Amino acid sequence: EEASPADQLPTEVMMKILSHLSPRDLARCAQVSQRWNQLALDPFLWPAIHPVQWAAGDWSFHPHVEDEEEAEKKSVHKGEEDCYYVDDEDADKDESSDSESSDGQPDTTMQQVLREVRIISGLVKHVLPRVGEGVQLCNLAHSRGISSSLVHKVLKLCPNLTTLNLAHTKITDAAFKEYGMKGGTGRLQHLDLSSCENITDNTLRSLAGSQTSTNDPVNTPRLSCKGKNNIGTTFVELSRSHGTGDADYALQETDSVIGQDLCYTNLDPFFTDLPPELCEFDCLGVGQETASRRSDSGGNNTPSAAPSCCSVKRTRCCSSGGVEGGETKSGYCGSNVGDDGDKRTDSGDKPHALHGLTHLSLNSCYRITDEGLRVLSERGGLPLLQHLDLSGCLNLTGEGVAWLVDTCQSLDHAFLFYCDNIYPDPYPATASGCRNLECGARFCCRSGD
Ligand code: FES
Repeated sequence: EEASPADQLPTEVMMKILSHLSPRDLARCAQVSQRWNQLALDPFLWPAIHPVQWAAGDWSFHPHVEDEEEAEKKSVHKGEEDCYYVDDEDADKDESSDSESSDGQPDTTMQQVLREVRIISGLVKHVLPRVGEGVQLCNLAHSRGISSSLVHKVLKLCPNLTTLNLAHTKITDAAFKEYGMKGGTGRLQHLDLSSCENITDNTLRSLAGSQTSTNDPVNTPRLSCKGKNNIGTTFVELSRSHGTGDADYALQETDSVIGQDLCYTNLDPFFTDLPPELCEFDCLGVGQETASRRSDSGGNNTPSAAPSCCSVKRTRCCSSGGVEGGETKSGYCGSNVGDDGDKRTDSGDKPHALHGLTHLSLNSCYRITDEGLRVLSERGGLPLLQHLDLSGCLNLTGEGVAWLVDTCQSLDHAFLFYCDNIYPDPYPATASGCRNLECGARFCCRSGD
């Protein structure tokens, strides 16, 4: 077999050429030969991953810069645009999906979400195990295809991350499970969890390397759906009832073969802190079409159709052992561990994973309480922090904010933000107040004033 002229080039020259290629081109090069595979998947060539941007067709290692208005529009999910994907990690996915729909028609939101899922899953399975050590920046902001388990894997595969942006995602505490104990190396400098509404004190505990009990239901959630695909359904829609008339929906891709057994276990939970009586899952067949969350004018969510094509039995999440049988099984979706301090055990005095942090945004993470900030402050604080955004965190008191801020020796209070109504106000003369005032996309207790 005749060697390609490119194969005569010295490694240094090849690397210089490859360093100008996009991630998609690098992935293609990796399929040429063993030598090209080794070179194209050199960690040095993969400094950043932007799966959401790549799914939108912008294959660049550099971030797409959007103005504030554009970002805000994106963060307001309503009606047809609000659909999220529940990943079945073990399912084989077609990772060859292109950025354009095959019929040339504009993509639906669901197609975009599925493309995100394929790209993220492909990265986790095939690329990050090879290049993860070189990745310093991971931007998953606004992703509707990401799941907590995928974030967990990304964190494990990318030990040298300095920047992590998960803003406006549905991730839960499970994403950071044991991060501070195993994966966190203290290299993280910039962490953005803005509008991650499912994040609780348990995430701060994990980041601080503070272990939770092995009986922690939050960190061992199980969701399961079982049944039969009676009419060749491509997707099933999982609906989670809040017990208040509201419900959330997520799609699970499935095999379209008629008679196919459906069995989804370990689905990523949306919320892990709903009391058991308010957490129920139904699976609704939605046929071959895409589907998304629907809201009526009053903000209530209803599925547009609930065909009986897919006889999936409802289950609940349970604390351990998965779900048996398929009939409703009681269990819990987690009372917040940490309200009871006895359930927590610390892991010594070593600095936590956020020790080197310079930028932290917990904007609108309204489940965070003083307890979470206390854990961070007691584990060495954030001595290098220069920007702290706690706007929209309504469960904090002035005392809790002061616990953490007093450990931030590098923090200029001009870059300290928290709710204007916090009591007692710990830094009335120096802090910058709430960043969410007059911002429609982020939560603020004074919106409508
Ligand atoms: Fe209270 Fe904005 S969250 S003033």
